[in-house]
Amino acid sequence: MKELGFSTKAIHSGQPPDPTTGAILVPIYQTTTYVQKEVGKDKGYTYSRGGNPTVKALESNIADLEGGLAGTAFASGMAAISAIMALFKAGDHIIVSEVVYGGTPRLCNSILTNYGMEFSYIDTSEASNVEKTIKRNTKMVFIETPGNPTMKISDIKEIAKVVGRVQDPPLLVVDNTFPTPYFQQPFKLGADLVMHSTTKYLDGHNATIGGIVISKTPEIDERLKFIQKSVGAVLSPFNAWLTIMGIKTLALRMERHNLNALGVAKFLKQHQKVCSVFYPGLPDHPQHAIVKKQMTGIGGMIAFELHGGVEAGKKLMKSVKVCSLAENLGSCETLITHPATMTHAEIPKEKREKIGITDGLVRISVGLEDVEDIINDLDNALKGGINYVR
Ligand SMILES: Cc1ncc(COP(=O)(O)O)c(C=O)c1O
Repeated sequence: MKELGFSTKAIHSGQPPDPTTGAILVPIYQTTTYVQKEVGKDKGYTYSRGGNPTVKALESNIADLEGGLAGTAFASGMAAISAIMALFKAGDHIIVSEVVYGGTPRLCNSILTNYGMEFSYIDTSEASNVEKTIKRNTKMVFIETPGNPTMKISDIKEIAKVVGRVQDPPLLVVDNTFPTPYFQQPFKLGADLVMHSTTKYLDGHNATIGGIVISKTPEIDERLKFIQKSVGAVLSPFNAWLTIMGIKTLALRMERHNLNALGVAKFLKQHQKVCSVFYPGLPDHPQHAIVKKQMTGIGGMIAFELHGGVEAGKKLMKSVKVCSLAENLGSCETLITHPATMTHAEIPKEKREKIGITDGLVRISVGLEDVEDIINDLDNALKGGINYVR
């Protein structure tokens, strides 16, 4: 049978009609425990820290969208990254993209180094940098592409080739939060594990915090399920259900995010108060050639710098009316962020500036409002005048 399309899978995968009532939507199994017929005889569930039918529906759904074997859901994207890190031990070396969500290096530097793990942060936009950094004890290469917040792109296929040449190959893990499986499918490009902060586009409505790891082998899936049960940072059935609802419209939303962001990026690009725009969908983005090979679209994330640096950025963020100054991304609402003081505040200034997160950098998660309204709002805020009433 012909493989089902993305939207059909997004709406149906992992969600057959409820076997007891025929309910078309997966019920919210709001329960901690499951009655067993006799000792050792259960119906596949015993206690919701180790598995819950609503959470399972979400795990199966995203695994199918990513083309993986199985998913393991967590209470947040950071809990998902922590679970991946828990696959390793003291003495292991891990390579991480230097442009990543600030919480990832915070976890590595402030917690995991205390357990004897070693980290190198490098520019993974050049696969040769990964090759040069791999050591005998390197066990994982963790990349985020596009990278948060500067939208730097890493070539997943080229990095997979580099990793594959190592005698005992490290795992190649991709944080696929920004593009979602709608625009980028890392397993097809050679990744071993894919993870998401489902808080972002997968939920899409600013409603839940969640995370997931998708594996492609039963061995790693089993280890992740063991970590899920043992550490206990599990996703609630209600949050799983809301995320399932969000994913049903993922394809439509991503198309519109992409269209709106392209419009906003073009507007910013020609604006005299803007000195640089980082949107991988623009042909002059430094890694646009890689984008064309591995992504079918970008989504709604743009970074830009204003003439006038941090003061100009602060003024802009204070003046917007349709856009909201807030930390999340990937939702219907357009959100505007100052990475240097918000999402990436814990990276020392010197290091931040070296990787392009300058004090004047503004990150915008372009939402699903009418693009003219987003552009007019930015235009007014850039002028310093405010004509909008919410
Ligand atoms: C790319 C990326 N990965 C991971 C995370 C962490 O996810 P969460 O906030 O759900 O813990 C974030 C959060 O902003 C992110 O942007």
